[in-house]
Amino acid sequence: MASLAIVNYQNTNKMNLEDNAKRDGFSSKFGILCAAAGSAIGLGNIWRFPYVVGDNGGGAFLLVYLGFILLLGIPVMMSEFVIGRRGQKNAYGSFKKLSKGKFWPWIGIMGILAAFTILAFYSTIAGWTLEYVYLALTNSFKGLGSEEIGAIFETFHTSDFMPLLWQVVFMIMTAWIIIAGVKKGIEKYTKILMPFLFLLLLIILIRSLTLPDASKGLEFLFKPDFSKLTTKSFLEALGQAFFSLSIGMGTLITYGSYVDKKNNLGRISFEVSVADTLIAIMAGIAIFPAVFSFGMNPAEGPGLIFNVLPNIFQQMTGGYIFALMFFVLLTIAALTSSISILEVVVAYMVEELNLPRRRSTIIAALAATIVGVFCTLSFGALKNVEIFNKTIFDSLDFTASNILLPLGGLFIVVFTGWFLGLKNVKDELTNGGIIKVRLFIVFVFIIRFIAPVAIVIVFLNSIGVI
Ligand code: PHE
Repeated sequence: MASLAIVNYQNTNKMNLEDNAKRDGFSSKFGILCAAAGSAIGLGNIWRFPYVVGDNGGGAFLLVYLGFILLLGIPVMMSEFVIGRRGQKNAYGSFKKLSKGKFWPWIGIMGILAAFTILAFYSTIAGWTLEYVYLALTNSFKGLGSEEIGAIFETFHTSDFMPLLWQVVFMIMTAWIIIAGVKKGIEKYTKILMPFLFLLLLIILIRSLTLPDASKGLEFLFKPDFSKLTTKSFLEALGQAFFSLSIGMGTLITYGSYVDKKNNLGRISFEVSVADTLIAIMAGIAIFPAVFSFGMNPAEGPGLIFNVLPNIFQQMTGGYIFALMFFVLLTIAALTSSISILEVVVAYMVEELNLPRRRSTIIAALAATIVGVFCTLSFGALKNVEIFNKTIFDSLDFTASNILLPLGGLFIVVFTGWFLGLKNVKDELTNGGIIKVRLFIVFVFIIRFIAPVAIVIVFLNSIGVI
């Protein structure tokens, strides 16, 4: 029985191989891990996580966030990998191949749209990061107090030219890697750089912890005060969890399609989620003690890390070199995420619209940059333009992270749990019966019932229906 299953699995394998004779893919397990973790770990952990925690009052929010990662994040991630590796195509193509009827491919299209939106505002912040590389390089924070450091950020991010220039530079870097492809582009870079980022964050965290009054920051981050939780915080936590894990829009369907049939999808999902969460919490421990030590406001919004971190570097021996290394690595972390976002769009254009890779990349990157310009200017010249009471930047971020990603995640688990066929799901997770998957029943129960219900409740709750 088991051996029959293995033969079957290997047959689908062979068919897929023939199908995809020229298909690019990852070459090693470590390569996949770095690419997937590279996608997950990015500005979402170091820039977005601390400020969203700050805006939502700290510890209690963190608990809700962790609950969502465990209960919804990991199962959604596994489902995406399953769909991608089974389908051997981009987000749209995989749904199309694995489903009947016209509905499901639209979930792929929704993901591609989300990717596009996220790339637009992501490149704004990545551009800021590049400016900070430049400022660090030219030792521009030397001898400045926290107010002056704040003023630098204020002047820079509201101006009309430099942020746009950096945004364009960042998009060119992203497109460059994507044109190079999976093995020679995505895998090659992420493999070297991710471990380095971890180390540096650790050093910064230690310095932050040894600042005066550091314990207040830790208390803010870890001591739950449930009175600070609102219904809005649940949606924010859900959006942050999905954004940070890169799930809900087909990034991991796309990457899953490049994963070799011998790799253990459950284990990869678990490891990536743990690494991502660890980095986010480390970023929190690096930021909040400093926030309180310098008497700053944790609910400062998107500028939080740019206002806080230079102050920490000032207090460090060798601050110059640490600041420089940090912003370089943050740029790289952003890059290993932005390429995974762009790849969603490019894989679709190459496989479904039959466009050459290079041309697809240029078109997609250009289009995202154009939308991105509006995001960047929404901190300056377009500050007063509002969509549903939010700036352009905030409304794109909100729509993509808090609406499109959770909605995508909902459909992804429903598809995997109810439409893909549990036999196929098990086949994919066990590599055709070769490896054991513990807790398969629990996984199925979550993707069939718990995850869909939880996502729907958080949604209805946040729009005030329940
Ligand atoms: N997870 C990435 C980060 O934390 C951002 C991202 C979102 C990447 C969605 C891919 C898909 O920075």
